Amino acid sequence: MATPRHFLDLSDFSADVLAALIQHGRAMKDARKGKPKGMVEPGRPLDGRLLAMIFERPSTRTRVSFDVAIRQMGGEPVLLSAGDMQLGRGETIADTARVLSRYVDAIMIRAASHATLTELAANSQVPVINGLTDFSHPCQVMADLITLEEYKGKLKGLTVAWSGDSCNMTTSWIHAAARLGFTMRVASPKGFQPSADVIAWSAQNGGNLLVTQNPDEAATGADCIVTDTWASMNVTDSADRHQQLQPYQVTAALMARAKPDAIFMHCLPAHRGEEVTAQVMDGPQSVVFDEAENRVHAQKAILGWCLKGK
Ligand code: CP
Ligand code: NVA
Repeated sequence: MATPRHFLDLSDFSADVLAALIQHGRAMKDARKGKPKGMVEPGRPLDGRLLAMIFERPSTRTRVSFDVAIRQMGGEPVLLSAGDMQLGRGETIADTARVLSRYVDAIMIRAASHATLTELAANSQVPVINGLTDFSHPCQVMADLITLEEYKGKLKGLTVAWSGDSCNMTTSWIHAAARLGFTMRVASPKGFQPSADVIAWSAQNGGNLLVTQNPDEAATGADCIVTDTWASMNVTDSADRHQQLQPYQVTAALMARAKPDAIFMHCLPAHRGEEVTAQVMDGPQSVVFDEAENRVHAQKAILGWCLKGK
C-alpha cells in the first residue's frame, strides 16, 4: 500500500510543493471573499471525507480553523480529546492509528510530544497532519507564509527576525526559510536558542540562518519581526524565564530597527507586556489577525494536498 500523504514538517517538502500550497491557499481565500463562512465550496472538493482531530493540548485557532476548513470543503470533522480516548488509559498510539484509519480519511493531531506524531504517522493508513508538537508547528507557519507574501508580494530574499524563546514555531520558520530562500535571524538568550540539530539542518539545506543573543542585530533592516509566548505549552513557566527573556520583548524601539514598512507577526495566543508590548501588538504594523484568518486558507490547501493529491 502506498504511503499516505502526511503533512508532518515543512522540511519534508520541496520549495515547489510549498509554493504551490501557498498559491492554492491564497486562491481559495480570494474565491471566498464576501461569501458566508459556512458556505461549502462549489464542487465540494472533499465531499464525504472525515477528518479526525486529536487534541492532547488546548487550542482555539487550530481546532476551529480545521473544523471550518474541512466543512467548507464539503467534509466533516470528528473532534477527539485525547483525555476522553482510551489513549488516556494506555492504549498505544500505534493501535489508535490503526483503528482510526478504519474510520476516517485523515487525522490531525496536536501532540504533546513529536514522537507521538511520528508514531501515529508510521502506523496510519490515512494522512496525518501535524497540528503542533513540542518540536514544530508547520500549519501555523504555512498561514504565516501566506500572510507574509500578501504583505510583501514575495518571500524569496526577505529577512525575518525572531526575538524571544526559540520554540516549535521557530523550528518551522527555520525550515520554511531554508526551503523558500529567505533569511532567518533568531535572537534568543543562551539556553533558549534553536537546537543544534535544527541549526545543522538549516546549514545542510542551504539556509541563511543567523542565531544571535542580540535582538537589535536580528531586527536591523528586517522585513518582519516575529515572536511567540515565553512559555510554550511544553515548558514550565518561571520568573527566571521571564527575566532572561525580558530583553527580547518586541517593543516599538525594536520595531524601529526594522524596515519602516516591516510587519509584526505572532501565531497567538499573545501575552501583552511579556513577549510583545500592547503598543506593537495592537499597532499599525501588526498583522496577527490576518495570520489567524489565514489558518483556514492554509489548512484547506493542506487538506487538499493530503486527500486529493493537489
Ligand atoms: N496559533 C495556534 O496554533 O493557536 P491555538 O493554540 O489556539 O490552536
Ligand atoms: N509555542 C506555542 C505555540 C502555541 C500555538 C506553544 O507551543 O504553546
